[in-house]
Amino acid sequence: MAKIQAIKGFADLFADESRLFTYLEQSARTVFSRYAFTELRTPLMEYTDLFCRSIGTETDVVQKEMYTFADSKGRSMSLRPEATAGVMRAYVENNVGAKESVSKFFTTGPMFRHERPQKGRMRQFHQINCECIGPKEPEADAEMISMLMTFLAHVGISNITLQLNSLGCPNCRPAYRDLLKSWLKSLDTDLLCEDCKRRMETNPLRVLDCKNEQCKKITSDAPLMLEHTCEECSTHFNTVKSCLDAQGISYEINHRLVRGLDYYTRTAFEVVSNNIGAQGSIAGGGRYDGLVESIGGSSVPGIGFACGMERLALLLQAPEAKKLDFYIAVLDENCRQYAFTVAQNLRKGELCGTLGFESRSIKSAMRQADKSEARYAILIGSSELEQNTVMIKNMENGNQEAVSFANAVSYIKEEK
Ligand code: HAM
Repeated sequence: MAKIQAIKGFADLFADESRLFTYLEQSARTVFSRYAFTELRTPLMEYTDLFCRSIGTETDVVQKEMYTFADSKGRSMSLRPEATAGVMRAYVENNVGAKESVSKFFTTGPMFRHERPQKGRMRQFHQINCECIGPKEPEADAEMISMLMTFLAHVGISNITLQLNSLGCPNCRPAYRDLLKSWLKSLDTDLLCEDCKRRMETNPLRVLDCKNEQCKKITSDAPLMLEHTCEECSTHFNTVKSCLDAQGISYEINHRLVRGLDYYTRTAFEVVSNNIGAQGSIAGGGRYDGLVESIGGSSVPGIGFACGMERLALLLQAPEAKKLDFYIAVLDENCRQYAFTVAQNLRKGELCGTLGFESRSIKSAMRQADKSEARYAILIGSSELEQNTVMIKNMENGNQEAVSFANAVSYIKEEK
């Protein structure tokens, strides 16, 4: 029969990658808990409208990348393309803002975007996501960015660049948007890519973010948001920068950093690596002061970021696997049940190991034990069964000893 394959862009993560992912998640818990973040697990699927209203109907994510389908009642559902929208929905729905003035949540798990798969870009990928809802102060932006950089350093990632921009606010962005739009219209627009021709009308800031070389070239003199921010936005941005300076966190201003999601206001940032190919953005985020309101909550500001775990994994080695303590070999068919009892007893004693049920010759048993890389081989044949013992062989030095069933756990633990 034909084999069934995984869906393109959806990966299986075996032991090494899983261990690396677990390491990243545990490191996130350690670092983020120092900043008083708690974990929030939100559903993988939400009503499509949530993503339209938060991420924005004019974004690539909503227009072409969501996995959307109707349920049996015809309601439109989507697999989450990011975590922020769901966190905001949970925050509003559970009235969290009435209970606390600042909420800090972190979320990890799979996200889904129907993009063209390539190195560092999957259709099911994993994010470590943080949201700080409540503070409007620029110091909160600097604290979030510092936490992200601390986390990346903690897991062992270096040689990265923090890029920073301000996207303005509802006071100053509309005028800049109009200015940019008319500036773009003054160009020979036939030279722009098809996406940019469309974006010019619907979302002109995104033109600045286009990766097409020709588009980059002809828009290189575009007016800059940072030169058109209102006084409040520019004071906010200057304070973020001076806080980062005071923390010794270096950054580059990237005037073209626009971000692919429409909810951002003021501070926007990305962390970029040059060592993992074209998809070099390992983390991204920013402030979103109108987001909670846009999904039906009150007017509460916030700031957050997400790291792509697959991209972090490309920069790291998996931590070493913990070795098994024992491999049990059955040398005689009649000993299988006794061997099983021995294995269970060792596990009750908190030792880790595996049992080869198939009875084998000593030679073949030792080959299996070698392969398992366990610290001890435990051989069980008819004499061990009769005498209620086990034969324990230290795989490092070759020493072998008969030990009573009752003493097996302490023997292995003391030898450890
Ligand atoms: P984003 O920039 O769309 O932001 O995604 C954040 C990170 O997720 C990216 O920097 C990248 O590392 C990873 N990522 C995105 N798409 C893929 C993909 N197809 N394959 C592998 N990795 C990917 C957000 O999602 C925002 N929700 C971040 C945020 C949180 N802003 C405020 N709060």
